[in-house]
Amino acid sequence: MKPIGLFYGSSTGVTKKIAKKIKESLEPGLVDIYDVKYVKVEDVEKYENIILGSSTWGKGILQSDFERFLYDILKFADLKGKKIAIFGTGDSVTYPTSFADAIGLIFEALDGKGITFVGEFSTKGYNFDASLSIFEKKFVGLPLDDDSDEEQNKLRISMWTDLLKFDLN
Ligand SMILES: Cc1cc2nc3c(=O)[nH]c(=O)nc-3n(C[C@H](O)[C@H](O)[C@H](O)COP(=O)(O)O)c2cc1C
Repeated sequence: MKPIGLFYGSSTGVTKKIAKKIKESLEPGLVDIYDVKYVKVEDVEKYENIILGSSTWGKGILQSDFERFLYDILKFADLKGKKIAIFGTGDSVTYPTSFADAIGLIFEALDGKGITFVGEFSTKGYNFDASLSIFEKKFVGLPLDDDSDEEQNKLRISMWTDLLKFDLN
């Protein structure tokens, strides 16, 4: 696999923690982790393989640093030909009608830029009422639920990173 740039936005540290777990589950030496607060367009463009992660803060609302990164930086980056995988953290018990919306918001904002999106994930096993992250009956990335036990998240990360090992360059 070629190097992977993982870019996350996190308000209370959950997405940051998950980013480290995703790195450990891939080839750790190949994954560089960036907090989107400190990222420039060149930091993103140097990778062919990119992972994006954001939490959700209300219906259709991205984590605040990620929102700025998406609309001020990613929108202007040359992402043509790149492979991108998205993950999102959320809470399906307290926010069942906007579960992990961030994944879908990121996907929609970047669709049409010549990107190959990888890492779609089945909705099976999740309990929620609505999410902006479902396209053609699948999540367009990996949602991780605060309320799932640690083992469940571990299993989902392992399934997802196995997919990425196959689908990334
Ligand atoms: C005020 C507030 C609003 C939230 N809204 C949503 C939501 O709409 N959908 C969702 O899935 N999770 C929602 N969450 C849960 C967070 O996304 C979740 O706790 C996440 O793991 C936080 O990650 P972070 O610390 O990396 O920012 C909300 C949490 C808070 C405190």
